[in-house]
Amino acid sequence: MTRIAIFASGSGSNAERITTYFADKESVIIEIFLSNNPTAGVIERGRRLGIPTVLFDKKTFSKTNKIVDLLQNQQIDLVILAGFLWLIPENLVKAFPNKIINIHPALLPKYGGKGMWGHFVHEAVVEAGEKESGITIHFVNEHYDDGKVIFQAKCGLVSTDTPEDVARKVQALEHIHFPEVLEKIIATI
Ligand code: GRF
Repeated sequence: MTRIAIFASGSGSNAERITTYFADKESVIIEIFLSNNPTAGVIERGRRLGIPTVLFDKKTFSKTNKIVDLLQNQQIDLVILAGFLWLIPENLVKAFPNKIINIHPALLPKYGGKGMWGHFVHEAVVEAGEKESGITIHFVNEHYDDGKVIFQAKCGLVSTDTPEDVARKVQALEHIHFPEVLEKIIATI
């Protein structure tokens, strides 16, 4: 049995997609959602999906061991970041070596790093006149968008694409690939 925790700061569409993908797979359980944002859509999704959802503040997350303790008490095997905006503190990285996975809505190493999230990424991609964008699924270390790349998928862009168009194309890739890539990683745990 692989027990998963999903961190999300926003809408949580990837968290939901992952949850429904694994719902009929008996060897994987989505144990808990965690969020730093009391108004995040992921909280309502958790309620609807029947996934316990924990809210925490910056100090608890960055300056205490409470979140690590919670994850360990729940015997979590894999931590997934699905639109989670805070830097992962060292104690959490160390407690789950190569067991924290993030999805980034661009082709890293381009358009990554602090402040590069959500619409900021897609605006920068359009501004630069890129002919393609995509997704990057990667292991997480103590730096933003910096760990080893596991998987990338690309989508073509046209010159009339707005940041919202790019976001739609990228999100479609996320929803297709993220659960499948996670399933492959889980098979190796
Ligand atoms: C996704 O684009 C993901 O790549 C990024 O944040 C977004 C989260 O979307 N890290 P959602 O909350 O899963 O809908």
